[in-house]
Amino acid sequence: MTVATPQHLSVKSLLAIEDLSNQDILAILDETARIKQACACNEDLRHTLPNRTLVNLFFENSTRTRLSFEIAARKLGVDVVNFEAPSSSLTKGESLIDTVRTIDAMRPDFLVVRHSSSGAAHIVQSHARAAILNAGDGAHEHPTQSLLDCFTIREAVGAIEGASIAIIGDLLYSRVARSNVFAFTKLGANVTIFGPPALAPGSFRTLGVTVARSLEEALDGANVVYLLRIQRERQADGLAPAPAEYRRLFGIDETRLSFTAPGAILMHPGPVNRDVEIDAHLLNHPCSVIETQVENGVFVRMAVLKLLVEARP
Ligand code: NCD
Repeated sequence: MTVATPQHLSVKSLLAIEDLSNQDILAILDETARIKQACACNEDLRHTLPNRTLVNLFFENSTRTRLSFEIAARKLGVDVVNFEAPSSSLTKGESLIDTVRTIDAMRPDFLVVRHSSSGAAHIVQSHARAAILNAGDGAHEHPTQSLLDCFTIREAVGAIEGASIAIIGDLLYSRVARSNVFAFTKLGANVTIFGPPALAPGSFRTLGVTVARSLEEALDGANVVYLLRIQRERQADGLAPAPAEYRRLFGIDETRLSFTAPGAILMHPGPVNRDVEIDAHLLNHPCSVIETQVENGVFVRMAVLKLLVEARP
């Protein structure tokens, strides 16, 4: 009998969707499905990664990503330590690199890094032996968010290949949007973007997406509507319309939703600005999978931790 060789990831850290092959993405989604199924059957997976330690290294605020990594790690039996930037030696002038080298010297297996600078996860990787998981670096990438989004679409819509996906909002400063544009186009979706012209610029065409001329055009026949918050903390004043104006021009309500294809789903990475990018009551609409995205985030992160260990000799 021939036994299939396990498919190892081609990377030893998860820094960016751009670095992943289609096979890598599909291997992570398939492993996620197995883990979700095992969790649904109440299987105890805490023996999966014994004697491993994960350090959450968050230099930027987070609710769901940090907790999701912590819960995912604990479900696999991994010890979790949370680094608190405000009470660390950063406040005494220690640099990011020295902080990373110090923590890495304690031999953690995983460093989960969130930082306001694009490229921070790559810098951390070049100074650490641990596997690095990018939990969002500036406006650059947020790979685990994108993987959980792909998993959720596959589950709810059936396939990413051939799906019409409209991404609406601030694409320029959103690391989620960049990761998703890479993932969705790699997997064969038809991606259309729309937003304030300064924040959804024509230059995105070079990434293989269509830039719509109106909200209606972007939503027309979409199977997935992916909404983004304006990243006000990352941009100079003036680029984004005021919240009321944004809602009028780009906000999704029931009427606008009716342009989409039958069975379309509504997604958002959170945090949501209610009644700005989305009418508050749509959050509980049957088409909203926003809470499912959060739920799937734990399974995707479990899959990534497991596969990264397997990819490392
Ligand atoms: C996103 C982020 O931090 O990039 N949130 C998340 O991790 N789910 C999106 C955002 O802040 O708008």
